[in-house]
Amino acid sequence: MRNGPNPRFEPVSYTYPLEGDGMVHAVWFDNGRARYRNRFVRTASFEIEDRAKHTVFGGLMDPTPADPAGLGSAGPDKQSAFIGVMHHGGHLLALGEVEPAWELSPDLETLGPWTGETDRPLDLGAHNRVHPVTGDLFGLAYDLASPTVTIHHLDQTGRWKRSFPVALAAPSMIHDFILTERHLVLMIGPAVFDMAAAARGESFLQWRPELGTRIGVMDLDGGNPRWIETGACFVFHFANGFERGNEIVIDYVRHQALRLGYSGGRHAPPRLHRLLLHPAAGTLNDASLFDGAVEFPRIDDRRVARPSRHVYVPTLTESLKLVNPASATFNCLLKVDTETSRITRHDFGNRVAGEAVFIPGGAADDTGWLATFLYDPETGTSDLALLDAARIEEAPVAVIRMPQRVPQGLHGAWVPG
Ligand SMILES: [Fe+2]
Repeated sequence: MRNGPNPRFEPVSYTYPLEGDGMVHAVWFDNGRARYRNRFVRTASFEIEDRAKHTVFGGLMDPTPADPAGLGSAGPDKQSAFIGVMHHGGHLLALGEVEPAWELSPDLETLGPWTGETDRPLDLGAHNRVHPVTGDLFGLAYDLASPTVTIHHLDQTGRWKRSFPVALAAPSMIHDFILTERHLVLMIGPAVFDMAAAARGESFLQWRPELGTRIGVMDLDGGNPRWIETGACFVFHFANGFERGNEIVIDYVRHQALRLGYSGGRHAPPRLHRLLLHPAAGTLNDASLFDGAVEFPRIDDRRVARPSRHVYVPTLTESLKLVNPASATFNCLLKVDTETSRITRHDFGNRVAGEAVFIPGGAADDTGWLATFLYDPETGTSDLALLDAARIEEAPVAVIRMPQRVPQGLHGAWVPG
């Protein structure tokens, strides 16, 4: 299953991949056959525009509502839930950027906002992590107005257990975080929300490199926080993090600055890095693992918060002939062996490939398959490709033609039947 933003109606502005209506595309495998289905995530905001039959909300670059009367009693902020999809405790959830998650039926019909068995919808980010021993889920919700991020802790069935705040230096955008067996790690880049700047007509999200990046390591209940300061960088996505003796190992994609999408040119591309944290000493060590533009790193999800060896991450090669590709456009999948530094690849040529989801097929974290949607810009057709994770350079073990175009999108998940 994979989520992504698809505008239901002509929007007032469109900044891919940061706005649109969530649409989940799913392929089911059963007895040697594959079945495809896609559905919009029908949030309350989606239903308002669906009834109006036109765009009601504003866009990222022009937040003025297109149809203020059409909002009715709803606020001006649109719920879209287009970033990720997650299966936890028997619940299938479509996720946005700190807004209510929306529960879907196994066949992708929207059931309603997710409450975690509390009395109100629970704001969650798109990236949540499951503790490998307890099966509990950790997620976060940052705040646009106050220097705080709230950590949510739910049990293995998805029932809310507790939430606690973590104090920050400034209201900050935090897209992902690290969970290990014993710690939560927050990496807070200087992407700061500034309402005063917004009132002056500037962007409400400001990049303030002089503030540097702060890395917070804390116990799973928020206790005993320690902060390590380092040079400014921004992280959308962590591949994984884990304890190794007295250090914490973190594989992640490092952006030199927050730019909404890598567009090439004079800027350093986002690169895959390994960070070694020594919380007791307050020191760190950081090194690049691959010298090219990457994003959307994934691992075998069974290894979240535990030692993992392989990272699967898309990159862009010259065999993609698209003119002016959108940000975060890739066509080649890398397999990075963090033990040997060996990198193997599968170049899909002139086809756009997205994030790869690992489907386990054995014990090792490269025994299984990598699933990614492909889009062919010449024919407008889409396929789902399955690569053997042990031999990704070889021809796909399966290529399944989709009955319709599956546009570029964001994060996916493998959901066992
Ligand atoms: Fe993300």
